[in-house]
Amino acid sequence: MNRYRSYQFDTIGFSDRDIVSRLHCVYMNEQRSQYSRPVGEDGDNVMRSMNEHHRDLTEWGLSKLCDELPLSILDVGCGGGGGLRVAHQLWPGASLTGLDISQDALAFCRREHKDLVEKGLELVEGSATDLPFDDMSFDLVMSFESFFFWDDIGSGIGEMARVTRQGGSVLICSEAYPHPDFKERNEENARLHGFTLHSPEDLIAMAPHGSIPRTYLIEERNWMTVILRKL
Ligand SMILES: C[S@@+](CC[C@H](N)C(=O)[O-])C[C@H]1O[C@@H](n2cnc3c(N)ncnc32)[C@H](O)[C@@H]1O
Repeated sequence: MNRYRSYQFDTIGFSDRDIVSRLHCVYMNEQRSQYSRPVGEDGDNVMRSMNEHHRDLTEWGLSKLCDELPLSILDVGCGGGGGLRVAHQLWPGASLTGLDISQDALAFCRREHKDLVEKGLELVEGSATDLPFDDMSFDLVMSFESFFFWDDIGSGIGEMARVTRQGGSVLICSEAYPHPDFKERNEENARLHGFTLHSPEDLIAMAPHGSIPRTYLIEERNWMTVILRKL
């Protein structure tokens, strides 16, 4: 849950300065965090790690939709494709599309999820704030650990709702939201990765009219899931 702890570093024999420098190399490409836009070999390593460490969060978030049977699913900011993998396990009959702003993330998904690509997984380069899909194209539009990197979160949520069919769901899931118990950790990660955290109430306030919101929290882990059912 703590992003420092999410990634394994062998600290034996390293000074604090070595460790900080190593973290910096793995996390940053040019000015960006690898977490916000994975690039190159370090990006591959971060995506491999995210696929493992976001799995519980992803399963928990999607479990809130266990009564639904989506036939078409879009993952916005799919990264290494961990969310697509869990969605396929839950709903093997659904068509899957992953969208990411990073070409390297899509290339990683093509290599890592060949079986899903053979079954029809589409991987599309694009931005959450300008989704290259027609209105009402998907039954479920989901996003894990990505919205806080978007230039305009409100536009992104509006786009997710636009491409969702009536009766379908938008799901946004994050392993951090503002909470006094996690203030220090969250502020450090926000500084390191360059994002601003938002509460479920903030996200719901940014959603377009015409949806019914639900919020789920695991307070002791600082996890949140917001689901907007499109009317
Ligand atoms: C922290 S990673 C999460 C990846 C994956 N969803 C997971 O849970 O493991 C954030 C992802 O969002 C993508 N991303 C950032 N800004 C984006 C944007 N504006 N549109 C689409 N994807 C974006 C990044 O390239 C990265 O792959």
